[in-house]
Amino acid sequence: MTGPSANTPTSITIRRPDDWHLHFRDGETMQAVVRHTARQFARAIVMPNLTPPVTTTALAGAYRDRIMAAVPEGIAFTPLMTAYLTDTSDADDLAQGHRDGVLTAAKLYPAGATTNSDSGVTDIAHIMPVLERMAEIGMPLCVHGEVTESHIDIFDREAEFIERILEPLVARLPDLKVIFEHITTAQAVDFVDRAGANIAATITPQHLHINRNDMLVGGMRPHNYCLPVAKREEHRLVLRKAATSGSAKYFLGTDSAPHHRHDKESACGCAGIFNAPFALESYLAVFEEEGAIEHFESFASNNGPRFYGLPMNEDRVTLERAPVEVPAEIDGGVAEIVPFHAGQTLSWRFCGSA
Ligand code: NCD
Ligand code: ZN
Repeated sequence: MTGPSANTPTSITIRRPDDWHLHFRDGETMQAVVRHTARQFARAIVMPNLTPPVTTTALAGAYRDRIMAAVPEGIAFTPLMTAYLTDTSDADDLAQGHRDGVLTAAKLYPAGATTNSDSGVTDIAHIMPVLERMAEIGMPLCVHGEVTESHIDIFDREAEFIERILEPLVARLPDLKVIFEHITTAQAVDFVDRAGANIAATITPQHLHINRNDMLVGGMRPHNYCLPVAKREEHRLVLRKAATSGSAKYFLGTDSAPHHRHDKESACGCAGIFNAPFALESYLAVFEEEGAIEHFESFASNNGPRFYGLPMNEDRVTLERAPVEVPAEIDGGVAEIVPFHAGQTLSWRFCGSA
C-alpha cells in the first residue's frame, strides 16, 4: 500500500483476485461479457445454468472451451467449471470430471429457485448418494440457498433454507465442503460463523451496497433486482461486517448475472445484476467505508483459493484512487446491458497488473 498514511492510501496493490461465482451465459452474450471478468480476475467459478443446463463433465468441458475462445488475446484467465445437479446426476461422471480437472465443483439449485433452475433438484434426498460421493472425494458443493415453496415469503426463503435444508445436510455430511453462495441475511452469517471450517460463503457487491429500499422506493428499479433478493438494511450491515471482518470463511463471488436491458425492463423482469465491469472498484468502496482496507486482499484473493484447495495467484493488481464513471450501458452482444452502479462515479480505478 502506498500513500500519505495507512488510513488514506492513494493506491492499493493486492494478489490478483478470483471471482468465486458468476454467470457468463453463452453465444454472443458470453463473447461480450467474458472480457470484463478476465480483465480483473485470474479465475472464476462459472455457473452452469444455461439452457439446457451444464449437467455433465462433457458439457462442462465443451462450455469451458467456448469460454476460453472468448477470452481476449494476451489475457491469462482460467474458467473453473461447475456441474448443475439434477435429480438424476451421475456420481461417477462428476467424480471423474473432478479427478480430471474439468469440474471444480457441483452446483445445487433447488428446482425453481432462480433463473434457469427448472431442472434443478426437487428434493435433496434424491442427490444424497451424489453428495456422499462428493464429501468422500473432497469435491465442493456450491449452494443456491433458498427454499422454493410458493407459500414462503420471498424475503424469508434463505433463512428457511438454512433451517430446513442446510443445517440437516451439514449434520449428515460433516465433511462436505459447502459454499453458501451470495448470502443475504444475518441468519446466513450466523450459520456460517458457527459452522466448521468446511463451510464458507460468498458475498456479492450488490448485497453490500443495496437493501430492498433501493429496489422498491420511488419506483421499481429492475436493475437492482437479483436473487436472492436484497433484504432489509439490518441484514446489509451484518453482511458488510462479515465481508470486511478478515474471517477466512467469506470470499468474493460477484454473482455477475448479465441480462439484456429489455429482459430486465419488462412486465416480468429477469433476476440478476451485471456487476463484472467494475467489480473490484465496487467491493473496495465497501472495504474503505468500513475502515477495513487491510482485509480486502484476504476477501478478494486469499480466502477463496484456500477454501477450494487451489494455488494462490502469484501476480498482483493495483487500484488507484481516481474517479471512475460507470456507463449507463455496456455492450452485451445481442443487446445492451445496464451494469451495476450505472451512471454513478466510483472512487477507485482498476489499473491492472502491478
Ligand atoms: C442468476 C442468473 O441470472 O443466472 N440471477 C440472479 O439474480 N443472481 C441466478 C442466480 O445466481 O440466482
Ligand atoms: Zn448466481
